Amino acid sequence: MDSQAAIPRHVAIVMDGNGRWARKRFMPRFFGHKAGVDSLVKTVLACADRGIEYLTVYAFSSENWKRPTEEVSGLMGLVLVAVAKYLTKLADRGVRIRIVGDRNQVSDKLRAAWEQAESLTRDNKRITLSVCFNYGGRWDIVQACRRAIVDGVPPDQLDEARLSRYMALSHAPDPDLLIRTGGEVRISNFLLWQAAYSELVFTDCLWPEFGDAELDAALAEFARRDRRFGGVKDSVPLEAKQA
Ligand code: FPP
Repeated sequence: MDSQAAIPRHVAIVMDGNGRWARKRFMPRFFGHKAGVDSLVKTVLACADRGIEYLTVYAFSSENWKRPTEEVSGLMGLVLVAVAKYLTKLADRGVRIRIVGDRNQVSDKLRAAWEQAESLTRDNKRITLSVCFNYGGRWDIVQACRRAIVDGVPPDQLDEARLSRYMALSHAPDPDLLIRTGGEVRISNFLLWQAAYSELVFTDCLWPEFGDAELDAALAEFARRDRRFGGVKDSVPLEAKQA
């Protein structure tokens, strides 16, 4: 297989294991999330270096509001700190940032930081980092349907291609590879629509420890997979079989 063809265009990641990583160090969970941000910045640059065009990460799910108030507010504050600390670096390295999710429930300050990140990087073309924040796959499907209805799309004209244009990640192709760190083997309401044919790779590595070696291992696993999208390999047309 030629190596370029084996590089996924779009990688999605469930960044799990920050809390356990911190606990192993007798530190509060927030310490793990902080290390998780550093890991994210390294990973987006590593993906860009490998020719990956889109990286989409699950930073805060619709269900994460159930966490203790101090952890939720810590994560919100961390985003503001991360934007202040890393935005210029990412912008200078050609990263385009998109925020995906329901912005209604977040503070004005956070919304302003997202808008700053998006507008400063809007012309960047090297890699698009989509940060799913206050995001859920079910929320995404519902919001897409609602917007299609508001636009007056007649039910008999609403097909998969048309609905896809209303999905929150419509700026990106479907993910080719979905990685989950932290040892859990589930999707947790991430990209339910878009990951229909993604190759799934689960690793025990905790997110703050995810680095070049783990990324390359996941890419090597992806390159070994045989993607058929519901078809069959080397299919021989029926007429040829009967001849
Ligand atoms: C899951 O680990 C991780 C999260 C819910 C948060 C991920 C967020 C970041 C890495 C920060 C993102 C920041 C920006 C700026 C986008 P967990 O807490 O569930 O870990 P555990 O399973 O070990 O408890």
